[in-house]
Amino acid sequence: MNTKRIVLVLKVLLWLGALAPTVWMGAGAIFGWLGANPIEKLEHVSGMTALIALLATLVVTPVRRLTGWNPVIQLRRPMGLFAFYYVVLHFGVWMGLDLSLELSWITEDIAKRPYITVGFTGFLLLIPLALTSTKRSIRRLGKRWVKLHRLVYVAPALGVVHYYWLVKADVRIPLLMAAIYTALMLLRVPGWLKGRARRASVVERSLAKPVEGREPGNAMAVGAID
Ligand code: HEM
Repeated sequence: MNTKRIVLVLKVLLWLGALAPTVWMGAGAIFGWLGANPIEKLEHVSGMTALIALLATLVVTPVRRLTGWNPVIQLRRPMGLFAFYYVVLHFGVWMGLDLSLELSWITEDIAKRPYITVGFTGFLLLIPLALTSTKRSIRRLGKRWVKLHRLVYVAPALGVVHYYWLVKADVRIPLLMAAIYTALMLLRVPGWLKGRARRASVVERSLAKPVEGREPGNAMAVGAID
């Protein structure tokens, strides 16, 4: 199978997997299999799916580095957008069904319940990422896009803290999520160190051999160091 076909198959599988929880929740609401507390169930499924999807977006880069198979990067954007979709759904269930769109309860919850404050912050961070996920935004924002999209490392961390905080007794699953998040971040460290070393050597070379018409050290001014 050629690369295009493999990516297409992976994208189809991704769409099927990502939409399955929505179908399950919709069917559950229609056929009444969401249990005694359907709102809690919807919050549970949407929240867990959002967190898993956020962590899944962080898997792409280590997989690309370990396998050397670059086309896998094409799965990252749809994964991120699915994560955002589930966070919006999660937020919508909480706001619309749990709190009946009562503005005073919503603002009070966000202000007074720390796990809600943290979850809400994670949600807010994801909004600019979703809005600037197009190729046009990447071209328009350039280096600022790269900086902005580093928030993708913060949002899952807030999701994990939010989850850990709201669980009352058994914290094993939130701790497992925290361990997965930590491992995914640690896997990135060698790549970041390599990138830093590469940028430092570019600056060093520019200091040693100044380009005609340019002051030594100008590489910094032109943004060789991010
Ligand atoms: C990055 C964003 C977020 C992620 C990844 C996330 C994830 C989760 C997870 C994993 C759960 C636990 C599900 C369970 O086992 O029951 C959960 C529950 C919950 N989340 Fe979020 N969440 C996020 C944002 C929010 C926001 C913005 C709100 C509302 C402002 C919110 C409100 C809730 C509520 C009310 C629950 C259920 C709490 C309970 O069972 O008592 N979350 N969330």
